[in-house]
Amino acid sequence: MLPKHVFQPPRGMRDYLPRDLYERRVVENTIRELFRLYGYEEVETPTVEHYELLAAKVGEETRRTMYVFKDLAGRTLALRPEGTAPIARLVASKLKTAPKPLRLGYVWDFYRYDEPQRGRYRRFYQGGFELLGSSRPEADIEILSISIELMRRLGFESFQVKLNNVNILRSLMAEKGLDEATQNRILGLADKKRYAEAIEELKKHGVGEDLISKLSRLFQLRGVDHRELMSEAERVLKGCENALEALKNLRFILETVKEVYPEPQYLLDFGFARGLEYYTGLIFEVFVDGLDIALIGGGRYDKLVELYGGEPTPAVGCAPGIDRLVLAMKLKNIMPDPPSNYRVYLCILNEKVLAYGFKVSARLRAEGIPVEMEVMGRKLSKTLSIASSRGFLYTVIIGPKEAESGLVSLKDMAKGVQETLTVEEMLKRIKIRLQTLHVSKRL
Ligand code: HAM
Repeated sequence: MLPKHVFQPPRGMRDYLPRDLYERRVVENTIRELFRLYGYEEVETPTVEHYELLAAKVGEETRRTMYVFKDLAGRTLALRPEGTAPIARLVASKLKTAPKPLRLGYVWDFYRYDEPQRGRYRRFYQGGFELLGSSRPEADIEILSISIELMRRLGFESFQVKLNNVNILRSLMAEKGLDEATQNRILGLADKKRYAEAIEELKKHGVGEDLISKLSRLFQLRGVDHRELMSEAERVLKGCENALEALKNLRFILETVKEVYPEPQYLLDFGFARGLEYYTGLIFEVFVDGLDIALIGGGRYDKLVELYGGEPTPAVGCAPGIDRLVLAMKLKNIMPDPPSNYRVYLCILNEKVLAYGFKVSARLRAEGIPVEMEVMGRKLSKTLSIASSRGFLYTVIIGPKEAESGLVSLKDMAKGVQETLTVEEMLKRIKIRLQTLHVSKRL
């Protein structure tokens, strides 16, 4: 006998039953509709990639939680923890000469050995929108607008967009000679809101009081009063031209997006960092009240394609977390019920007339009418009561009499009326009924 635990999926991974999958599809279909409306072409890469490629720029936290293994030939491989690295690999190789901008989309599963909790799984789905080839703010604004459109189309009435430009903190640190590895450590701590430790780490590097006080101030600077916050940040950054340039870029993007989409709350947070290390400019996350985990994450990564041996290719993108969006929709009671699938049940009373019954079912399906066959050998009375309790519109009954005369018996489950009809009459009857139920478009 196998041990009991093997009958459950591995910890942090889920089975998606029909209802779960329907809910996932609601989000996925909306993501795909946005691919179409914004011109993103879908691509797919393997779930498994070379470890070095995935590990190069994902940051300590994601690297630590990767599923890594050796294949039989001794290659070190890993399950992808996120989608931007595989996309950058494609653009650096197979799509090297493709005209820019490139708009690539995906809906894939990802793996991270995170500690499982509400909305945090070890296998989860993300959509992705990656816009490659443009360093202009229009590109950042497009990615933000896609994120906001997605939230609106899914039915969220209020939500929050948190933003920063990672180059503000990076430029300040680079100016004082801190190398990239140290910057990454500081930003990694800021990502976890461990600001005091980030300051301690800075002190270890013997940086002057000036940088410590600037970073301490920025770590506290957040809110929705953008004008006030921007002026304060400008004061703090005085003298550091690169940081001021990054601030200007952030201000322009924020002001434009706010003008187009005034509804979301925009939280400017100068201490906000993201765990992934490839970001070089705008970073953002989307939240709803009552759930303190990000639903969408994104930002600009201008150096990744180059790092993978491609042409210098500025890029920006975002990834909506599909499982978390489903969770948030259910929390806000905005997940729609599945549409009624008006079906016909078909019951063949005798094995000798199976072929005739299957022909009738094929005729129904050829007209786009969903048919389920009775395959359990149940008696007619039992079949009818099941068909009725499961919401079938009609039951088609086929016995030797019907088969001989080329007819069918059609029982209307709601009215309880049964008639014997030709196949054509049956089709007409069912189609008229479906039209009155407004499902004709799907036929
Ligand atoms: P990320 O913020 O790590 O960004 O993930 C994006 C989204 O995936 C998160 O906002 C969250 O909704 C979902 N997610 C992350 N981890 C989990 C988990 N353990 N369980 C459930 N959902 C999760 C990225 O992955 C970047 N590649 C986004 C990006 C695209 N940046 C530029 N382009």
